[in-house]
Amino acid sequence: MKALVTYFSQTGNTEKLARAIYDALEIEKEITPVQAGQNTGGYDIIFCGFPVQAHSVPGKVHAFIKDIPEGQNIAFFCTHGSLRGGQLPRQAIEQAVGLAAKAKVLGDFGSRGAVSPQILEALSKRPEHRAWVEEAQSADGHPDAADLADAKQFALRMVGKIR
Ligand SMILES: Cc1cc2nc3c(=O)[nH]c(=O)nc-3n(C[C@H](O)[C@H](O)[C@H](O)COP(=O)(O)O)c2cc1C
Repeated sequence: MKALVTYFSQTGNTEKLARAIYDALEIEKEITPVQAGQNTGGYDIIFCGFPVQAHSVPGKVHAFIKDIPEGQNIAFFCTHGSLRGGQLPRQAIEQAVGLAAKAKVLGDFGSRGAVSPQILEALSKRPEHRAWVEEAQSADGHPDAADLADAKQFALRMVGKIR
């Protein structure tokens, strides 16, 4: 059994989850940042991770998800500044599931991820974003050890689904 862990990460949060997932897997495995034209053949499961940006899947990850072959097992993971379990990060996961229309989505995992001070500073000047900035500030320090432990559990659960 072979797994690919692939991710997009601007400030390292999603990469931390990717490494935790990769470390937890006890099967043949590869880890690589999402690349254009990446080969997705020959894997029993693909873990695809991204940071939520503007409540959405970042453009860079769109093409990768769309190109996933029919019937391919895939599991999504993401980091986001918003509180865990909120509607907005859910929206991005649902978008990813929609883009992966032909693939077999096994599940998803989300963790909070610290938002860069520059982004918080820029958005705090815009009244319509102030509430979000307040919420997102408390993502500082995430993903933490507990988040990474949860990501590892998630990885094992997903592999358990295809055994
Ligand atoms: C341009 C931009 C837009 C963002 N939009 C959102 C958002 O809509 N919702 C959210 O919860 N977090 C948002 N964030 C915060 C990131 O999702 C969060 O900091 C994430 O953990 C960054 O992951 P990375 O370090 O892997 O890039 C945004 C961050 C950036 C830079």
